[in-house]
Amino acid sequence: MDTLHEIKLIYSFNDKDVENLKFLKSIMEANTNEFIAGVYSFISNFEDFSKFLPNDEIRNRHQEKLKFWFLNMFSGEYDNDYLRRLRRIGEVHSDIKLPSHYVSATMNYIRNYIHSIILRNFTDGDKKDSLIESINKILDINLDIIISSYIDEGKLYISHTKFESRVIKLSSKFSYILDLSLVLTLMLATAMVFFLFFFEIYRFAFSGASFETTVVDILGAMLIIWAIRELLEEEVKKLQGKKFALSAFIALAMAALLRKVLIFSLAPHKSHEVAILGLLILVLGIVYWLMNKKGVDT
Ligand code: HEM
Repeated sequence: MDTLHEIKLIYSFNDKDVENLKFLKSIMEANTNEFIAGVYSFISNFEDFSKFLPNDEIRNRHQEKLKFWFLNMFSGEYDNDYLRRLRRIGEVHSDIKLPSHYVSATMNYIRNYIHSIILRNFTDGDKKDSLIESINKILDINLDIIISSYIDEGKLYISHTKFESRVIKLSSKFSYILDLSLVLTLMLATAMVFFLFFFEIYRFAFSGASFETTVVDILGAMLIIWAIRELLEEEVKKLQGKKFALSAFIALAMAALLRKVLIFSLAPHKSHEVAILGLLILVLGIVYWLMNKKGVDT
């Protein structure tokens, strides 16, 4: 999605909606404090409320920002800056790992609250329906953009020109094709390692390879298959729009080094190489542990 113009088209957000929202501005301004009090009373029931909003300083700051967001909905200005602000809200919430359900539930509360103000202040049925329709559209647009940032912070890129937009679309398609070919290559690599696995058994049975070497070689092949499977799983996750865990690469490197250690351990005079490989595995192990501990998954 590129611009708010496209989003407005999808939601059939038109001049009538802009007019309706601007019309509601003064009523909403008069109810801002009540709005904030209501939202806070609602969100204070969330289990993690105090974890995310632990003290008055943060709560006051959030309330000011919430007020600004609320009044902005009735400004009549819905341009790309507006879109950027919404995206930023999503990013901030996503960064602090606020469950997206909290945002959706709060938005639901806000929708009901605004509806109640409209029902309280207007008697004409048609007017009420038209105002509620516009409110629903702008709230849905807000929720859509904010939640999109949860799905993928980087996905919702707001381009400035058509050319930029085309380049972004092309490169994202290209990267998708690359991911797809990576998955296919990984599958092929797995099949080849399986071939290696059967080849070791064949060598043992018909070419007189030693039993010890065969077992170690088979173990090495299994280790590589396990690591490729991890990598494949991560690639598939990425294709499904989830984040890629970089730690899978570290796991693959560790598996490859472990395989070498297994092979070298059988060869005499290789203790120097085994020690270096051991050190490398230790370093990779620490990096792997740190990545998983910190939850680095990009
Ligand atoms: C419809 C629902 C919500 C809206 C529209 C909203 C709006 C905002 C806005 C405008 C910001 C400032 C973003 C920026 O810095 O640019 C913000 C930040 C924040 N929001 Fe919300 N919020 C919502 C729900 C919640 C809920 C349910 C919680 C927690 C239970 C929460 C916790 C926070 C926190 C902790 C920050 C960062 C505050 C700071 O350190 O400045 N928000 N929110």
